[in-house]
Amino acid sequence: MSKVRVVRSTVQRFISVHRARFLALPAALIAIVSLVAFRGTPMHSTSGVNPLVLPAGWPMPMVPADNPITQEKFVLGRQLFYETALSGDGKTSCATCHNSYKSFAAGGAHAGAFGDSSRPARTVPRLMNLAYDTTLTWDGHIHTLEEQATIAIQKKGDLLGDTAASFAELQNNPAYAVLFTQAFGDAQVTMDRIAKAIATFERCMISGNSPYDRYLAGNSAALSASALRGMQLFFDTTKTNCSECHNNMGSQSSNTFGQIFSDNNYYRTGTFEPNPIDIKRGGGYGFDTLPQDTNRFLDAGRAAVTRDSSDVGKFRTPSLRNVAMIGPYGADGTVPTLAQVIANYNRGGNDMFGSDSMQIFNKDPRIKALNLDSSQLQDLEAFLEDLSDYTYISDQRFQDPGVAAVTIDNHIIAQDLSFYPNPCPGTATLECPGMTGEVRLQLVAENGETVWQQTMHSDGRLAIQFPDLANGSYRLVLASGADEKTIPIVLQR
Ligand code: HEC
Ligand code: HEC
Repeated sequence: MSKVRVVRSTVQRFISVHRARFLALPAALIAIVSLVAFRGTPMHSTSGVNPLVLPAGWPMPMVPADNPITQEKFVLGRQLFYETALSGDGKTSCATCHNSYKSFAAGGAHAGAFGDSSRPARTVPRLMNLAYDTTLTWDGHIHTLEEQATIAIQKKGDLLGDTAASFAELQNNPAYAVLFTQAFGDAQVTMDRIAKAIATFERCMISGNSPYDRYLAGNSAALSASALRGMQLFFDTTKTNCSECHNNMGSQSSNTFGQIFSDNNYYRTGTFEPNPIDIKRGGGYGFDTLPQDTNRFLDAGRAAVTRDSSDVGKFRTPSLRNVAMIGPYGADGTVPTLAQVIANYNRGGNDMFGSDSMQIFNKDPRIKALNLDSSQLQDLEAFLEDLSDYTYISDQRFQDPGVAAVTIDNHIIAQDLSFYPNPCPGTATLECPGMTGEVRLQLVAENGETVWQQTMHSDGRLAIQFPDLANGSYRLVLASGADEKTIPIVLQR
């Protein structure tokens, strides 16, 4: 069943149960809207809640003057990010490729996923701290989150869009009438409003609670001894070059320790260039054969934007936050593991494509052999692993709101759901205070297999003991009737 139908039937149930309150809403909205107009401000923020929560010491990001952040746009944007009705096939949403439990990435390259199916496949980027980025996508052909959302929806590449039909579907949905009115003052569905709401949601997706951040905040035990040595190597430009590019946006901040881990600039490192000879031997990049949809030879990188031959093969420096959560790595996913990425950097990347001596042009001169020993390579990897922020991927504010945008009887109230601790050592507590009736719980492994299940009864609190399962990422699926909610969980015993 498509999500929109669920929302619609939910709304009908909601209206019949809460008719009086529902009908009182428009009057309240008219009052609010006229108040806002009177004050002469473009904001329709009625809640006073600020959805942009920054870790201590982080600078205010840039927010476009014509799209100020409000809680109401955030709530609408979250709903739209998970909305399959925006797609031509009725099954795809932004979250199909940008999975919350993979730090909003997918784990592979997607053909045509930048609004143009004729262009080569690229890896789905992790989404976090986008508010600080000055350009977007691997080659920087997009500059704002509003523009990105518009392209993803309108062009066939991402959502296979048929915008007239999907906008009509939203327009006819009473749940969206409420959400659009709260965000923009009236119920009209337009591309501009959808883009502004999704961009607001994405702008508030801030990840800054990794062990590394906790270490910087004064918890000296947050990093292991190995990760600490790795951190020193990473930021010591006499030993490695990592922080020359994976830094804190260079000129934008004087803080040399990375919040962003990207300078938003473009380079060819040679580290992700497949070497056909190595690949034939099953060595080199760690794949026996190149992933089928790799396009390293076809993808001009930054040159596709600038049309300048000195930009051929250059890609935008990716943030290294949450990098250990999801591979393969590089713009087209040519390198399967972090250890392999680090080993490739250590030998200075490749200078040639294979034995036919085809030179890799435009390679950055700072990428050269580092001569780190194997324990130093492990330390660097331990540091990159400690850039993982599991509170971010399990933050309910960024999860699929399901049908919970409207409250109904016998329904899980998404906003109040909590599962802790996460990462989970094997035992945990699940709380759904608003719950009545029965909820089915299923723990699903990355390969889609259900590895544990249980039923939760109406007291809204459950102590969970997972059986002996391998460490890693799982999804806890909560189902009640036709409604489903997913909580990403990391098992770490
Ligand atoms: C079919 C898979 C797919 C879908 C669906 C999809 N994306 Fe993406 N997204 C990608 C890929 C692949 C890229 C990288 C494109 C590139 O670099 O050229 C990307 C890039 C992005 C970026 C830039 C991130 C960065 O760090 O540069 C944002 C933001 C984004 N997508 C948001 C969205 C939104 C919002 C939606 C829904 C309206 C959406 N995406 C739907 C695959 C997808
Ligand atoms: C000259 C700039 C530069 C330097 C120096 C550099 N990187 Fe990178 N890094 C990049 C760029 C650009 C990419 C994407 C490259 C591509 O796909 O071709 C990247 C990609 C990565 C990735 C993959 C991330 C992902 O999301 O796929 C990792 C991990 C990484 N670098 C770690 C390091 C480490 C560790 C060092 C130091 C040993 C380092 N980098 C030095 C520019 C740099």
